[in-house]
Amino acid sequence: MKKCLNDPIFKVISEVGASESTPVYVIGGFVRDIFLNRKSKDIDIVAIGSGINIAEKVARNLGPKTKVNVFKNFGTAMIRHKDYEIEFVGARKESYNRDSRKPIVENGTLEDDQKRRDFTINALAISLNTNDYGELLDPFQGQEDLKNKIIRTPLDPDQTFSDDPLRMFRAIRFSTQLNFRIEENTYQSIAKNKTRVDILSRERIVDELNKILLSPKPSMGFKALENTGLLNEFFPELQELKGVEKKEGKMHKDNFYHTLEVLDNVRIKSEKLWLLWAALLHDIAKPKTKKYIPDIGWTFHGHEFLGAKMIPSIFKKMKLPLNEKMKYVQKLIQLHLRPIVLSQDIVTDSAVRRLLFDAGDDIDDLMLLCEADITSKNEYTVQKHLNNFKIVREKLVEIEEKDALRNFQPPISGELIIETFGLKPSKTVGDIKNAIREAILEGEIRNDYDEAYHYMLKKGQELGLKPKH
Ligand code: CTP
Repeated sequence: MKKCLNDPIFKVISEVGASESTPVYVIGGFVRDIFLNRKSKDIDIVAIGSGINIAEKVARNLGPKTKVNVFKNFGTAMIRHKDYEIEFVGARKESYNRDSRKPIVENGTLEDDQKRRDFTINALAISLNTNDYGELLDPFQGQEDLKNKIIRTPLDPDQTFSDDPLRMFRAIRFSTQLNFRIEENTYQSIAKNKTRVDILSRERIVDELNKILLSPKPSMGFKALENTGLLNEFFPELQELKGVEKKEGKMHKDNFYHTLEVLDNVRIKSEKLWLLWAALLHDIAKPKTKKYIPDIGWTFHGHEFLGAKMIPSIFKKMKLPLNEKMKYVQKLIQLHLRPIVLSQDIVTDSAVRRLLFDAGDDIDDLMLLCEADITSKNEYTVQKHLNNFKIVREKLVEIEEKDALRNFQPPISGELIIETFGLKPSKTVGDIKNAIREAILEGEIRNDYDEAYHYMLKKGQELGLKPKH
């Protein structure tokens, strides 16, 4: 393993360990990522003794500019060096859990520390000590699990998960990111301990959800969350999407699996986190709007509007940001049927103009979401929609070139209307402004100052107004 430790920083830590008579090891994600051929910038160092002391001495060796951040409560210390973030901790007998309220019990052996970590693949350590520098210490066959692509806890999973229930999410997250299987006992234990989710902060859960969303195939994670029962514990609105109903021989799609298909489709094309959230939540109001209408079938009328309305309370509950990110998700949900409805009919210029006006800069993301939403089993239907979509996209480009509606700024300001007709600020001013906008969207005039100016004069005349000059 020596060649994996070619950065001089490891020698520095090793020498400090030797001079302090404190054995030191690299442990956790950094070691795992060596085997996965991933470059990690986070280095975790475990010391058989005081991690904080080693960190302080290492910092001193690195020069006066190196700062140590000490987290006394957690018994850890952190140094930033080049683009590494190096965290030092003393080996623990108790669980390794940064957010735990339990007291930290240090003075463990290396193996004590390894067995209280979350997964065998995260419990691998490499020695930095002179006698066995570079040797891999793997008491729980983590290397074997990496090879076989397995997530497994070092101890009885009930114990590992009760130490920190977030590990249930971490198991699913690692399995989704790495395309690993969760070992049977570990999986069963998640199902058994699902109600422990209660004690977790939403922020920690959301961190894991974000990582699942950004994984190559996010559906894998959400299927596991659902299947183990975790999903229902913290996100019942998503759970409710699951299931089908049949009436008079008519059945609707399972909206949970449909949502996951859309999510995977979006992920193939994009790594935008908030677009992925929009995909996850785009049909969230389907259960609440579901109706069976005889002779017609199942409808989810208005689910895009109700869905957009549900977002603030979901974001609040999940401690997601209540800012422009939320507004973006709302907007995409509210508009997610527009391109498809548009493409079902003859695609008129004015409908495309209105779509461009409403979506603004988010039009490309909306189109991506909408295209990902076409998941029928019928290949013919899918092709038909995709072809119509091509027309919508072409028209979007054409209209944007002609009219620049993406970030529509009214070509005629309210002040100019007031000034031209000698008006006071009033409803009439707004009416004229709206009429100009409508004329542009309908394609009667172009989005251009001169055309809009003439239109304003015409509209004023209709309203019995005369220009001042
Ligand atoms: N760890 C743990 N239990 C947790 C969190 C962390 O046992 N709930 C241990 C694991 O050994 C893990 C190490 O602490 O490898 C570092 O944790 P962290 O930096 O959160 O994760 P990484 O494993 O490095 O992976 P990632 O950066 O992808 O989260």
